[in-house]
Amino acid sequence: MKFTHKNYSGKLSRTALVVVFACEGARPKLPGGVKLPAAALEDFKGAAQKLRLCDATAGNARRVLLVGLGPREQVDGEIVRRAAARGAKKADAISVANAVFFVDTSCAKLAGGEEAFGCAVAEGAVMGHYRYDGGKSAPKARKLKQACSLSPGTAFKRGVARGVALAEGNLFARDLQNKAGNQMTPTKLAAEARGLARRSPRISCKVIEEAGMKKLGMGLLLGVSAGSSEPAKLIHLVYKPKGKSRGRVAFVGKGLTFDAGGISLKPSRGMEEMRYDMSGSAAVLGAFHALARLDVPFEVHGIVPSSENLADGLATKPGDVHTSMKGTTVEVINTDAEGRLILADALHYTCSKVKPDTIIDLATLTGAVVMGLGHEISGLYSTTDELRDALSAAADACGERVWPMPHIEAFVDNLKEGPADLRNICTPNMGGGSIAGAAFLSQFVEGPAWAHLDIAGTAWNQKARDYTGGKGGTGVGARLLVQYLQDL
Ligand code: BES
Ligand code: MN
Ligand code: ZN
Repeated sequence: MKFTHKNYSGKLSRTALVVVFACEGARPKLPGGVKLPAAALEDFKGAAQKLRLCDATAGNARRVLLVGLGPREQVDGEIVRRAAARGAKKADAISVANAVFFVDTSCAKLAGGEEAFGCAVAEGAVMGHYRYDGGKSAPKARKLKQACSLSPGTAFKRGVARGVALAEGNLFARDLQNKAGNQMTPTKLAAEARGLARRSPRISCKVIEEAGMKKLGMGLLLGVSAGSSEPAKLIHLVYKPKGKSRGRVAFVGKGLTFDAGGISLKPSRGMEEMRYDMSGSAAVLGAFHALARLDVPFEVHGIVPSSENLADGLATKPGDVHTSMKGTTVEVINTDAEGRLILADALHYTCSKVKPDTIIDLATLTGAVVMGLGHEISGLYSTTDELRDALSAAADACGERVWPMPHIEAFVDNLKEGPADLRNICTPNMGGGSIAGAAFLSQFVEGPAWAHLDIAGTAWNQKARDYTGGKGGTGVGARLLVQYLQDL
């Protein structure tokens, strides 16, 4: 769906549907000339996320969809995103091809002001309308083709442009996640990254092949990929700002295009979902998709180690020892703890070759974080308070929630036992599986401030949840990363 903005100067052009936001207890303001039957407003009180569809009795709109925002003083970006998503879904459901989202001046002042409101409306409508049908031979066309916001003020328009860029970055990530394992291999992921660079003059892309990994000594990434016939790829994207750079930031994303567990094979029930084990990389590519249309004054690197984790005759066996790019040797006790292995080489590559001021990695790293934090909150680990607070603030602003988790030295101590320098899991199991994963990664970061987001619970919806989509990828992380850069 295409989303644009029109400046409101008191008039509405003929349209099939106007979506109007209404706060609790207040009479919603309609665009010039549009009138509703008195009864329509009697049974609609503006409660948050409530809908009321009615025929207009006068004016240039055929129908009006009222969407409740709840109490005025509680309206924030998240409420607006959800409301806009409900509006877009409803418009599609009633087979409207064009919809206008009307926001009058007093309403646009809510949720952080005009720019923020415009951004939230565009994000909510575009993300809410998404459906993945890439697996169908003849997908049904969507009914709603175009939507636009209608509001006075130039700040609102700026917000809409930003919201569309963020939402499309998020949807780009979702498309990558939702593709089946055979449709989204490391090779195809690398091709998607190259496509981003081809389409933007400010983005470049380099892909390191297995021969290059051997030269760099990436024994951990190669060790995970050893059991698969699909060659591993190390993708390295760079975004250069228009003007002078104010610093270098690196995003590192786990790109396991299918995780069967390796020789430590996963149970077959639900294994098909392990195609979303590349969600960290989807977030990174999604962020670059958005960066192609937005200006940030930073040099941004996106590093994605990508591989499958399968189990053929050359696969890494439990107990095998591999040497990392850093030189540290690692005993692979459980081949299913592979994300931390490929990330370890990617993090060391980033520290030693890119030398950024800040690294943020995203990974569907552990089932444990799903047990601990569920599906709406990602686990956030950070080596500095500043980075933790910045990411928490960005998360609150964009609605992709995070919660701070601790680094605990005892997990590192446990990982250091055994025949190699490190082992890839704590044994006997100490619990705290997400913390153990972060502890392993911490051994490969030297220099920059570093944050790790465990997104195993938030990257995939088991069932539809407001604007994050239906069952499948949520695109989590793409908007968060860009929000973080824009707030920096
Ligand atoms: N990709 C999984 C983590 C995961 C689990 C993501 C469930 C999404 C949903 C990861 O590679 C993995 O298998 N982790 C193991 C680690 C264990 C062997 C220490 C896990 O969490 O069970
Ligand atoms: Mn695994
Ligand atoms: Zn995995």
